[in-house]
Amino acid sequence: MNILQVKGIHKIYGEKESQVHALRDVSFSVKQGEFIAIVGTSGSGKSTLLNLIGGLDTPTKGQIIIRGHDIAALKPKELTIFRRRNIGFVFQNYSLMPVLNVYDNVALPVTFDRGKHVDHEYIRELLKELGIWEKRKRYPNELSGGQQQRVALARALANKPAVILADEPTGNLDSRTTAEVMGLLKESSRRYHQTILMVTHNEALAQACDRIIRIEDGQIWERPRGTVVCKDGEAQPAAGAGSSGTSGVSATASAASGLGTSAGIAKPMAGVMEAGRDGERG
Ligand SMILES: Nc1ncnc2c1ncn2[C@@H]1O[C@H](COP(=O)(O)OP(=O)(O)OP(=O)(O)O)[C@@H](O)[C@H]1O
Ligand SMILES: [Mg+2]
Repeated sequence: MNILQVKGIHKIYGEKESQVHALRDVSFSVKQGEFIAIVGTSGSGKSTLLNLIGGLDTPTKGQIIIRGHDIAALKPKELTIFRRRNIGFVFQNYSLMPVLNVYDNVALPVTFDRGKHVDHEYIRELLKELGIWEKRKRYPNELSGGQQQRVALARALANKPAVILADEPTGNLDSRTTAEVMGLLKESSRRYHQTILMVTHNEALAQACDRIIRIEDGQIWERPRGTVVCKDGEAQPAAGAGSSGTSGVSATASAASGLGTSAGIAKPMAGVMEAGRDGERG
């Protein structure tokens, strides 16, 4: 079942000479339960895409359908409720509430939703798994960047949303914590059949996802994992594809151990280099 359909999306910021065409005719579908990596160079349009899918901004053209709802057709109030019930966000700037302690920040999306009861046991479990249970009574300004990032992640998961949109959720974390966060995301998506779209600059982390969507200059270049994209743009299986074993937490741990990022490589030929790297790893 497709939980998300992105159809012919364009996003243009600004007017006239200062226009930025951030997304150009982007289309793809996502099945429920898929864990997708979104990769691409800085400024390529990744955050723009997540913002549009999350209904935080509207496309200049095109449609976004989540669970059968065209989100642009929802009234503002309906959209707010739809978002709260269905989507968990992890932003680049964490956006924690400074006046609330860690625990209350995490419980916030659930307490907002009057129809839902707060699953304290689950929140406790999340905070423990993320290593921030001891910090539950602290305020955001008393935490390190990485700790704030983990609070933001716990908050996104607390509601058990159907869709999780994460913008570099491990950007500030050391390799071990990165592996733990990836493990938690995978476990959560498996347990609750959640769909995850995660922006990452870490090519190896991306390889541990079910699918990679690459954005360059506002356009998407999708290829199955482990395939080489040739000069003429046609995807072909890479030699040794499928033997790289990049799934699960253990793979993530090796991923996080510094196989490095290749965010700058996104032109078709770049696939060759990545596939070579896959081979090394396999
Ligand atoms: N609110 C805005 N107004 C005008 N231009 C914007 C706005 N937001 C983003 N842009 C532009 O749109 C393009 C895509 O930006 P976006 O934030 O989506 O990139 P990104 O892929 O997330 O980059 P990064 O990896 O650095 O986070 C960039 O050229 C950016 O300058
Ligand atoms: Mg971004």
